[in-house]
Amino acid sequence: MEKVSDIRRDYSKFSLDINDINPNPFNQFDIWMKDALKGEFLEPTAMVISTVDMNNRPSSRVVLLKKYDERGFVFFTNYLSRKGVEINGNPFASALLFWDKFERQIRIEGRIEKISKKESKEYFSTRPYTSRLGAWASEQSKPLKSRFTLVRKVAALMVKYPVDVPLPDFWGGYRLIPDEFEFWQGRKSRLHDRFRYKYENENWSIERLSP
Ligand SMILES: Cc1cc2nc3c(=O)[nH]c(=O)nc-3n(C[C@H](O)[C@H](O)[C@H](O)COP(=O)(O)O)c2cc1C
Repeated sequence: MEKVSDIRRDYSKFSLDINDINPNPFNQFDIWMKDALKGEFLEPTAMVISTVDMNNRPSSRVVLLKKYDERGFVFFTNYLSRKGVEINGNPFASALLFWDKFERQIRIEGRIEKISKKESKEYFSTRPYTSRLGAWASEQSKPLKSRFTLVRKVAALMVKYPVDVPLPDFWGGYRLIPDEFEFWQGRKSRLHDRFRYKYENENWSIERLSP
């Protein structure tokens, strides 16, 4: 096994101070996301979504953030997937974004809701033809006999939907509606900056946390 315990980096690129942090966490998110979009990351919008099943067992996976505003953070997936089933049973989830070059991490926690069919349709229609077929073809998270089974299914779907691909009932967006955020900026000697926002009494409070 590779020895990874000796890998050590000191973080010194940026800082975060109570005087520069935006009082609204959605605005602060927007500032950091805009930085990330200019940062030449391969997947700047990739985020880890963690859900919890009926037995309180957590699970995590990467999805792509497709939309964000003051209502929350939207990603698209198969509603019958493992995450879909877990969200159905327990709507609380967390999202995590990490931009290593910028030494930044954002944690977002809250409740998940399905977005409207209309919103899902709008997004689905912007996806490339093959991705739309892929949504139909994949019974996400279910065991698959072989890769060939999947490819054959896509081929059959090409015949069924040669031009227009309708939105499957089992596919669409989820919105994470936050009640907590944390912005983490790496600093020298592990004395990192951390700020947590909490939504209480219709207001966002901010406090600094120990690193
Ligand atoms: C960079 C990256 C982006 C991904 N984007 C999505 C996405 O937007 N939606 C999605 O359903 N799965 C996406 N996946 C696949 C998921 O990580 C995961 O394998 C899939 O959603 C099934 O998860 P589940 O079985 O926990 O439901 C992505 C994976 C990676 C590595």
